[in-house]
Amino acid sequence: MFDPSELFPAVPNLYEFPSIHAEMLFDKERIKKYSSAIHEVIKKGDIVADIGTGTGLLAFLCLQAGAKRIHAIERSSAIRWAKIIAKKNGFTDKILFHNQDSRFFDLPEKVDVVISELIGHIAFEEGIIESLIDAKERFLIPNGIVIPERVQLKGALIQENVVYPEYIDCWKYIEGIDYSHMREEAVKACYLTEFDDRNLLSDPKEFFAVDFRGIEVPSLCGSRIHVVNRSGEVNGIALWFDARLYNQISLSSGPWTRTHWRTCFAPLGVPITVKAGDKILVTINMQLRINDQDGFKFDFNIKQEV
Ligand SMILES: C[S@@+](CC[C@H](N)C(=O)[O-])C[C@H]1O[C@@H](n2cnc3c(N)ncnc32)[C@H](O)[C@@H]1O
Repeated sequence: MFDPSELFPAVPNLYEFPSIHAEMLFDKERIKKYSSAIHEVIKKGDIVADIGTGTGLLAFLCLQAGAKRIHAIERSSAIRWAKIIAKKNGFTDKILFHNQDSRFFDLPEKVDVVISELIGHIAFEEGIIESLIDAKERFLIPNGIVIPERVQLKGALIQENVVYPEYIDCWKYIEGIDYSHMREEAVKACYLTEFDDRNLLSDPKEFFAVDFRGIEVPSLCGSRIHVVNRSGEVNGIALWFDARLYNQISLSSGPWTRTHWRTCFAPLGVPITVKAGDKILVTINMQLRINDQDGFKFDFNIKQEV
């Protein structure tokens, strides 16, 4: 299993630092897309549940779009900032704040729309599946709308040339002391980085997706054959999400986009030399958290097809 700590650091109270909210709130692409989806979906008089409201922005945008009442649910103490901002901006009458984890809490009424931004760098590591499917089942009216509608994990073969030399192949001797063991540890981790499509050695493919318009938890295991499109050395896979917020409005952490999200590089211990036309089978397996204390786990396997 990979160590996904870089994807979702186990910093206690991560959301109680203003800096993480600044990253999200000044991500123009994220705000523009969520704002467009809200203006398409919210009708005058709607009741909305905002799962993980943070500093409250999605809730405030829903009110600006005409919502009658928002249930803003947040498990961290960041909710205190949302309350202050709501008061400063005259939103208090229309927002009910709940300092709770949505999964262990009941709303007093059903809502027309459930909105949330719990999307991780590789889609699912922040618990979007666990929280949104539960909120849809318990809070939403029949035929109500969930934003985002669909989130997919995508990936491609990659020849990565920054992380691999600097964080993996770097482990040799330090002052004459053999540090080669650290290479074995380094290939078990995954790394947040940036690259463009010139690094990719195959076309991107969807490994699996979750459609929040349904309620089934899909299998988070996907195998795809990737056809190599030019010669090179595959030293890992690149992973990112594509999320459809509503209709054609979508967000991505892929190599062509610039948001606060980053692309993930999952390295191979032994790179594979490939040429155009080679077929490589990539299998990814993710595990949902059963208990709160469980970490996020994922693993991948790569095999050259003959
Ligand atoms: C990525 S931030 C988004 C914050 C805000 N919605 C925004 O768009 O700026 C996710 C927030 O959801 C909260 N959160 C995650 N899962 C939750 C749950 N099941 N119930 C309540 N809060 C949750 C986290 O504490 C964090 O503040």
